[in-house]
Amino acid sequence: MLICWLRSRSSCCSPCHWKSVVVALAVCTSGARGEAEHDATSNRGMVVSVSAPASQVGAAILRRGGNAVDAAVATAFALAVTHPAAGNIGGGGFMLIAPPHENPIVVDYRETAPAAATRDMFAQQQSPFGHRVVGVPGTVRGLAMAHARFGKMPWRDLLEPAIELATNGFPLEPWTARSLNELVRTSQDFPELVRVFGKDEGRGTWSPGDRFCQPDLARTLRCLAEEGPNAFYIGKIAERIIAEMKSGGGLITAADLRDYTAKWRQPIHGTYRGYDVYGAPPPSSGGVCLVQMLNMLEKFDLKAQGRFSSHTLHCMAEVMRRAYLDRARYLGDPDFVRIPEHLISRDHAARWVKSIRLDKATPSADLAPEIVLAPEGNETTHFSIIDANGLAVSNTYTLEYSYGSRVVVRGAGFLLNNEMGDFNWFPGKTDRKGRIGTDANLIAPKKRMLSSQCPTILRRDGETVLITGSPGGRTIINTVLCIVINVVDFGMTIREAIDAPRMHHQWFPDRIELEAHGFVNEVIPALKQLGHEVIVRRQGDAHSIFVDTRRKLFIGAADRRIMGSAKAP
Ligand code: DON
Repeated sequence: MLICWLRSRSSCCSPCHWKSVVVALAVCTSGARGEAEHDATSNRGMVVSVSAPASQVGAAILRRGGNAVDAAVATAFALAVTHPAAGNIGGGGFMLIAPPHENPIVVDYRETAPAAATRDMFAQQQSPFGHRVVGVPGTVRGLAMAHARFGKMPWRDLLEPAIELATNGFPLEPWTARSLNELVRTSQDFPELVRVFGKDEGRGTWSPGDRFCQPDLARTLRCLAEEGPNAFYIGKIAERIIAEMKSGGGLITAADLRDYTAKWRQPIHGTYRGYDVYGAPPPSSGGVCLVQMLNMLEKFDLKAQGRFSSHTLHCMAEVMRRAYLDRARYLGDPDFVRIPEHLISRDHAARWVKSIRLDKATPSADLAPEIVLAPEGNETTHFSIIDANGLAVSNTYTLEYSYGSRVVVRGAGFLLNNEMGDFNWFPGKTDRKGRIGTDANLIAPKKRMLSSQCPTILRRDGETVLITGSPGGRTIINTVLCIVINVVDFGMTIREAIDAPRMHHQWFPDRIELEAHGFVNEVIPALKQLGHEVIVRRQGDAHSIFVDTRRKLFIGAADRRIMGSAKAP
């Protein structure tokens, strides 16, 4: 699909012709999977995720009278089966819940460092894989906490569909078959992973349409269904995790699991051109950076400038670079570091905007030459759900890298995250090659590592209008930014907003990443003229819902960048 997409070229360089690129993308993909799977409209609710069986699970829960949080819990467990690259029970994430007529609230179920972790435990380590990079998983506690407060259906019923998918299997999508084969090919040092995720325990090669069964995971999920979330933290599953840790030199102990807590947090709140914007608070940088960038962009008349003019892309790059600098300087776990409140203030945005030159890129090094960002992994997954009553859920969760640490808990069939990689590994050592050593995000026992996850909800006059989010490490926040301005400034439909090319700048490396295709390629020389380095790269998928409040319709749009599915109940 991507090749198809990158080949689609329009001969016109006018910004208004981005739609022709979108059409080309639709033509490239619709033959293979059919539009109906990516787009759905309903007044009964909506579930949009990366995986068709998982979206079906969520929609079925809504049909049976469950609410959006019930559907979110069931979808999350289903994704742990059908999208093992990022769907998980061994990782963590953030769930933003927006009840109708009430303030939104966030479940922070980010992983924590084990109690035995030390500031410089990775100073000599090169590998992002293995037992030592595993953070204490938060997903099961987080889902249980959301369910206990908002859920209507029994916990056990929400696990049943995932158990069924793990027991009887599901047909592999082409993307998943390819991804599993690649995983197995590159993970020969992890025999349990090869046994669980390889076809015929690693002797074969998956093809699209093959049925993928996971009997060990089915047993684990059955145990969670029958014994509740404590099975994961103090019960039978905990015992297996501890045994796995002991066998591989990992740090997580029984006490780490027992002491893990998910947390209720107030979302970050800002406003943008009349919309209320809600996002994930620290320990995610998502909400702070998003609101900061929107505050800065509000000072520019983007609509008049045109969506893909060099002027707009330049302004976006400049606000991105500044927000990501603040991210590196200040953000970390708020239970450990003080996050300055002024970051999301309009005064702060105004100060930053003053430093932007319209005729010239500001070299990132000039803003704070001492700090450079370290590399980051590439998989996570986001889903968006709303029910007929307007209860909305925007959930992003992750194992950090695709398939996390590669450590599968022996006999339990699930992967553990490598989220410790999101801490700054090299205290005090910042250089131009990608190391960062700033204090806010150094490792400490029980601390949460800084995230970029950015589940987001926009409201207008108190009503939810947009639910979105994305994977992609640091690109996440900028993907969400692009979608927000596409909808708010440029009046795009949700389908157009998702298909339109995206861009990313994260302060360091000092360059723009652009989903350039069609006419967007043609703006690159103008950006270079302004002093930007530009590379072409795809960004993460954003499975989103737009609410047409006038017609009371939920419009689900799954992203077609890898795969995805919008399902109405
Ligand atoms: O929490 C974070 O920001 C990262 N661990 C997310 C990793 C990620 O999104 C990789 N994705 N595509």
